Amino acid sequence: MDKLQMAKEHFAQIVEEQLKRVERMKQDEGPVDYQALDKLIIGCCGGDGIGPAITAQAERVLKAVLKDEVASGKIDFRDIEGLTIENRIVVNKAIPDDVLAELKACHVILKGPTTTPSKGDGPNIESANVAMRRELDLFANVRPVSVPELGIDWTFFRENTEGEYVLGSRGIHIDEDISFDFRVITTQGVKRIAKAAFDFARNNGKKRVAIITKANILKKTDGKFLELCYEVAKDYPEIQVDDWFVDIISANLINEKVRSGFEVFVLPNLYGDIITDEAAQIQGGVGTAGSANIGNRYSMFEAIHGSAPRMVETGRAQYANPASMIKAAELLLRHIGHVDKADRVLAALKVANSTVKMTGRSDGATGAEFADCVIRNL
Ligand code: IPM
Ligand code: MG
Repeated sequence: MDKLQMAKEHFAQIVEEQLKRVERMKQDEGPVDYQALDKLIIGCCGGDGIGPAITAQAERVLKAVLKDEVASGKIDFRDIEGLTIENRIVVNKAIPDDVLAELKACHVILKGPTTTPSKGDGPNIESANVAMRRELDLFANVRPVSVPELGIDWTFFRENTEGEYVLGSRGIHIDEDISFDFRVITTQGVKRIAKAAFDFARNNGKKRVAIITKANILKKTDGKFLELCYEVAKDYPEIQVDDWFVDIISANLINEKVRSGFEVFVLPNLYGDIITDEAAQIQGGVGTAGSANIGNRYSMFEAIHGSAPRMVETGRAQYANPASMIKAAELLLRHIGHVDKADRVLAALKVANSTVKMTGRSDGATGAEFADCVIRNL
């Protein structure tokens, strides 16, 4: 086929799919009230590499803190097997159909890291994370970073279903010389993430929201993001809003003179990915951070780091630090309305972080010993 024709057809198909997605967003009926459910189902999905080891420890903590709710039948745990890179390669899908069906039968999901092959190292399978965020429409990726001794208390609202990510596996090689990837931003997509960020600020006594874009360069997509965030901000007159380009904000996060003035950030998907790793590093590393992926029907809680296959290859999975997954469990508890239990997990996690020596090797404690300490201190 003629190159131009092929490119046109490819782009037309993407536009058609995105128009359908916009229609689905318009029909969305808003958040499910977890408190009103007879039974809340929590799915635990180990993932790849060190994922199963650290997820199992976080699950132990959750079951300990929720034992009364489990006993009374208000909460049910389900283990979801099969979201492994081996299975995904066999069926050549980011999430095997049976696993997706099991995930959809839950309300909230605790998920370990999953391996994503990058181009060149194996089959070109989409990231299971990205696919899950899209399939379950988990539009808000909420990432808190807190370093009290530096006056840092940040919460990032990373848009989770648009940007470069959602079309990341839909790029096109026109010929051996030219390749394109695509990026999409929609009115509905921006408004819902902006509203989530401003609602959080309002409900948590935060006074300032910073919008992050590169709207001077990406005028259409980031331009829309910026404009609509300001529009949503009008409903929150008590909150101070400003906007920053992503390059200077990455400098500001390590500028001790200004960084503690920031509170809430709202930003498109890819910038959110990059900036939250930087922020997590200031807190002590990506291994210390948890991430909440929130949609109206489903929500999923995970670590922000990868699956560390090398630790498994060298027989060290049991020494992997489950702190990030326990942090994710804390965010899960907060989201389902058990704020007091979330506070207890957070306090116990602090004790474990400062008393249990984790080295990732046999000269340090195991993940199970770390979780034992958290459970003892609940
Ligand atoms: C994250 C991770 C994922 C992402 C990867 C694993 C696909 O880096 O949650 O930040 O890029 O979103
Ligand atoms: Mg990331």
